[in-house]
Amino acid sequence: MRILVAGGAGFIGSHFTEAAFPAWPSAKITVLDKLTYAGVRSNLDSLSRNRRFRFVKGSITNRPLVKKLLKETDLLVNFAAETHVDRSLLWAGAFLETDVMGTFNLLEVARELRTVRRIVLMSTDEVYGPVMHGEARESSRLDPSSPYSASKASGDLLALAYARSFGLPVVIPRACNIYGPRQFPEKFIPLFAINALLGRPLPLYGDGKQKREWMHVSDAVRGVIAVARRGKTGEIYNIGTADRRPNIEVARRIVRSAGAPESLIHPVKDRPGHDRRYAVTASKLRRAGWKPLVKFPDGLDSTVRWYRDHPEWWKPLLAREEKYFRLQYSGRRGR
Ligand code: TYD
Repeated sequence: MRILVAGGAGFIGSHFTEAAFPAWPSAKITVLDKLTYAGVRSNLDSLSRNRRFRFVKGSITNRPLVKKLLKETDLLVNFAAETHVDRSLLWAGAFLETDVMGTFNLLEVARELRTVRRIVLMSTDEVYGPVMHGEARESSRLDPSSPYSASKASGDLLALAYARSFGLPVVIPRACNIYGPRQFPEKFIPLFAINALLGRPLPLYGDGKQKREWMHVSDAVRGVIAVARRGKTGEIYNIGTADRRPNIEVARRIVRSAGAPESLIHPVKDRPGHDRRYAVTASKLRRAGWKPLVKFPDGLDSTVRWYRDHPEWWKPLLAREEKYFRLQYSGRRGR
């Protein structure tokens, strides 16, 4: 068994790669990662002595490189993507490049070679757009609000078309919001945890009543493994917890967990096109035997503790992305 994990140096990708070694005990695992701002080589340090592991720096948009790697791949799992909504509102081009053209490239090469036995393309519940009532099912209509979610929806549709037209063995997990150690500090939970630990204001968008469904990264990874193993070709699998909370509640929990005062929570101008609520039903994957194990309050506490104990991980990342943080937050004071 030979596995290629694209985007394996990022947040979810690196947790998946670590879990893949015990999950496929004799597999050789290659990580392909472009090491953009969100890809961190040291995320894979725990594997540096593992003889079954190899790292290749490069992009999923590089056709010759992808071809070379897929020739020796049985299972392809793709996490390589631009993922941050706020960045997609500033610089949409990179999202089309990676999330649409990168996906297209993987599909085209796999179609040409015909040797990859399973293709897992990680996706997101954001493709359903705001779900004001009830829960999105896999068959729900796509209604993306941001360039990010529109790019992911495009990649999903292409992949499903390749499954239908060419019989490509594609499966698509669509996960709710994921949190945990090593998430890039542009995202809500790590950004708020770090700001709380530093005694800086927590920029809560709008009224803070937007709801997100939260899942610990370890549960997400077990979900993706279940989809890789038991998913049916051409099918989508939602991965979610049904644990939905307003952002203001999550912000309050974070400050409490960090031992900071609630007065640090600072409402700022809302995100344009901000989806009010996400909600998925994961009953299809639950029927295949998966269920989430980590309770949100426990997972959140341990995540805040991880950020407190690993400033050497996030300090250089914040410094390197100073331009983004300035652009995103400097004009946003007050709402
Ligand atoms: P985010 O982590 O960007 O995930 P997504 O938008 O993909 O769900 O944001 C999660 C929620 O937190 C979302 O409702 C936006 C909100 N948010 C803030 O209020 N302030 C912030 O600085 C960020 C980054 C997010």
